[in-house]
This record gives sequence, C-alpha cells and structure tokens, in this order.
Amino acid sequence: NSMLAWQRSAYHFQPPNNWMNDPDGPLFYKGWYHLFYQWNPDSAIWGNITWGHAVSTDLIHWLYLPLAMVPDHWYDFNGVWTGSATILPNGSIVMIYTGSTDKSVQVQNVAFPANLSDPLLLHWVKYSGNPVLFPPQGIQLKDFRDPTTAWFVNGKWRLAIGSKVNTTGIALVYETLDFLEYKLLDGWLHAVPATGMWECVDFYPVSTTEDNGLDTSANGPGVKHVLKASLDDNKHDYYAIGTYALESDSWTPDDPEMDVGIGIRYDYGKYYASKTFYDPKKERRVLWGWIGETDSENADIKKDWAGLQSIPREVVFDTKTKSNLIQWPVEEVESLRLVKKEFKELEIKAGSVLPLEIGAATQLDIVAEFEVKSNALERTKEADVLYNCSTSNGAAGRGVLGPFGLLVLADKSCSEQTAIYFYVAKGTDGNLKSFFCADESRSSLANDVGKQIYGSIVPVLDDEKFAMRILVDHSIVEAFAQGGRTCITSRVYPTKAIYEAAKLFIFNNATETSVKVTSLQIWQMNSAFIQWYPFDKDFE
Ligand code: FRU
Repeated sequence: NSMLAWQRSAYHFQPPNNWMNDPDGPLFYKGWYHLFYQWNPDSAIWGNITWGHAVSTDLIHWLYLPLAMVPDHWYDFNGVWTGSATILPNGSIVMIYTGSTDKSVQVQNVAFPANLSDPLLLHWVKYSGNPVLFPPQGIQLKDFRDPTTAWFVNGKWRLAIGSKVNTTGIALVYETLDFLEYKLLDGWLHAVPATGMWECVDFYPVSTTEDNGLDTSANGPGVKHVLKASLDDNKHDYYAIGTYALESDSWTPDDPEMDVGIGIRYDYGKYYASKTFYDPKKERRVLWGWIGETDSENADIKKDWAGLQSIPREVVFDTKTKSNLIQWPVEEVESLRLVKKEFKELEIKAGSVLPLEIGAATQLDIVAEFEVKSNALERTKEADVLYNCSTSNGAAGRGVLGPFGLLVLADKSCSEQTAIYFYVAKGTDGNLKSFFCADESRSSLANDVGKQIYGSIVPVLDDEKFAMRILVDHSIVEAFAQGGRTCITSRVYPTKAIYEAAKLFIFNNATETSVKVTSLQIWQMNSAFIQWYPFDKDFE
C-alpha cells in the first residue's frame, strides 16, 4: 500500500508487514545476531502472536527468516508470547517463553534449537513436557509472564518472571538445574507497591569500574544490578540500579525513592517491553525496545504495518553521575552515515529560528553541542521550579534560558515540526536544573495521531556542554541527551514534511539568552538492507 508509504522507516527494524510488539530472545550465535519478535502474520493489529525471526551480522542490516514458533499446542494456543534466551556454558541454547493456553492461562514453556550446527537456528523444538511452569499459588492465572534470561548462582540457574499481588508489582524467581524442572524461591526478587503488573522484567549486572558489558551471570566487587519492569498500567519501562544479594535472592535499589516503577525510565517517549542481551562479540550489553504506534488502528491497517524496534542501544553504568545508565545507539549504526554537513560556532539569538540547508531531512543522524555563556539565569529572579516538559507549553513556552534545540521533520513553513530541546530552569534554591524534551504537538497536520510533549530532567555536569544526538527516520525520532543519560523516542506522522519537503531547523526560543552551537554535525543516513534471507528455491 503506497498511501502512507512515506511513514515506513528506512533503517529501523521492521517485519515485512503487519503487527509487531516485543523483542524476544535476542542472542548472538555463531557469527549472527538473532532477533525474535512478537508478530501477527495476519494483520496490522495485535493477535495470533507468533515468533518472527531475523538475523544480522551487525545489528543494522537484517535478513528475515521463517517463523521460529507458532501457536500450535494447547499450552500456547492463544499466543507464543514473550521470552528470553539463555546460552549455556557448553554452547547450547534454551529458550523460555510464555504461552497463553487454550484457556488463556499464562504458563511458561521451553524450546530448543533443533540443530545447533545451524548458525541460523531455523528450527525450534518445543519440549515435550511443556508447560514447565503454571502460575503458583497466590498468583492470578493471567498475571504470570515474560521469563528473563537465566543467571547462574552456586551451581544452579535462576530466572525471574513478572507478576503482581493486588496492585504490587513483583518479580518471582525460580531455580533450575536443567530448565525442565523448577523450584519457586521464597520471597520475591523485589516488589514495589502500586506499580501494577510487571511485564518483561529484565535483570542484569553492570560494571561500575569498566566500560564493557557483563555476562548475565557476572557478580562480585565493582558490579551493580539493574532491575527493569515494563508497567502494564502505564506502558513505560522503568529501571533502577541496586545490589543483588545472592543468598537471600533479593535485590535492593541504591535509592529507594528511585525504585523500579517510580523512578527513572529508559525512555521518556514511546518505548516499551525492552530486553537486553550480552553480546560476547563486542563485550557489551545491548538493549532492544519496542516502539509502538501513536496513530489510529485504521491508519495501521491502511499502511499495513504497526510497530518498530529501536536502534539497539549499548547500556552501561554512568560512572560520572553514578545514579543512572547511559544508553547509546550501537556504533554499527554509524556505518549508515553518508555525507556530512558541519556547522561551527553558530550564534542563535534569543527568539530565533534558523533553517539548516542540508537537503532532504527524513533520514538523519544529528550530533549537536550547545554552550550557554551567560549569567542571565543566575541574575534572573525567575524561579521556575515547576517546569515540566509535558505541562510547560512545550517548545512554545519561553523562559530565560530555553527552550533551545532542533526542529526535525519540519516543512518549510514549520506548520509541521517536532521540537527536540533543552530547557534550563532555576529552582527556588537558586540551583539550575536542565530538562530534555520532545514536543510533538505540531508534528502533524493529521488529527488522528498522538501529539504529546515528553521529557525529563537530565544531569548536566559543571564541565559539560549541552549535548544531543538525534536519529531521524521518516516517522520515528530517537533523541539522546548528554551522551545517553536521558532518552526520548517519538513516533510522528508528518503529512507535509515528507521526502524532499522535510527540513531541519535550529531554534532558540529563550526570552533573553543567546546560545552558541559549538558544533553541529548532520549526516544523511543510508537505508538499511532489511530483506528476506536469499534461500534456495528448494528450501523446505
Ligand atoms: C508486553 C506483552 C507481554 C506479553 C506480550 C504478548 O507488550 O504484553 O507481557 O508476553 O506482550 O504479545
């Protein structure tokens, strides 16, 4: 269908057509990155969930493979739902996933690759003893899903499964030797009142001293553990950093006020059901996240697809702030960079908008640094402690120092524009606070699409400039502030700012202070190769 063809992304992973949600079982095996995903082969609306499958050598270019698993047993009759892969020390692979049974009960099932000498892992065999787990006592039949990758403790494997008790979100932990028989451990890995059902729990170690990622079973000095839950109640992914006590099998957040579900989010825009895996090839931890649609179901049916995966992000502990993670698009995405336009020492006066002549602006990688050399904010009496990206009038809400940033996917008159910007606010205590926001309110002239203003606070340290990176890809904008401390993903559906008519502007809507752009690099991005695997004709 060509009607809405311009909305299709060019370098974000998408299935050939139809509905996609969560990433599943990501892993690296014999030279290939594997991505499985929740896919409806029949429609652009959720349902009939199978596991789609694709492989890549660089996390950017992908080859679609045949479906890995379909709902063909009573224990996954209503869907082969989300799951995770564990690579055992002998090199074999265990996939554990949630099945929605013929009675819509959530159970856990196990599957193995049919042939470990096949690097493509084309065929999967479901264990004859499935399901391996039913909802335990005290857990509702539909509140028991999305098993994690397992980690190894004292000769046994452990894995977590998300649930809730009343309105308290929890992660249960099971212990197993062989992935066939399991024992529920006493207590919970963690629980947070009023956070509701925890979907797609993720649990992994990060190094506080090295910049490489850690295998899921790593622990010891210089290691902290990240716990993430996807809140079914508000569809956001929340993480917290803390300490994992092996003996009691419990995790405690460093800062109880920033606990899972009430503290930090991976992303302040549209981003959900994420999952990490350890990449042994580059010794890093890579995060996948599902980016859903914010248009109408009708539009999804018209365009024949719904859902993207984010550009995979490398995640590390932020050794400077010590209170958050850093997320950054995997370096391989830079291989798509084509021509670069560079601007230096641009002075952007208060209240001005500047077009950047770069040609078509639908596929871009933008890296910008701003400097604010002014004491206007210190001088001002204005204290806007109540500043909030979502409620302070977005890119149009003017203050002494901000908003300033970029307008992406804008048409020439800026009747359509998506603003990605910083705003610096002064607290009543006199301290400055920086915010990073994305304003979609004018992103489309269409009226059946979501137009939110998103964002959050971002730590900007004393010696740092204001730094942002933006990946633009037709209908998705992924924005990263301060090297990846705060991230915002937007789905936007321009009707005029498409193809050659899409432009880029830089703006400073502050009332008093001019900002200096110390460096601005803009690359045109190539499209990724995302196609069917070139099987021989006689491939069964
Ligand atoms: C998250 C989720 C999971 C479930 C899957 C079903 O988006 O609801 O909890 O396993 O999607 O498609």
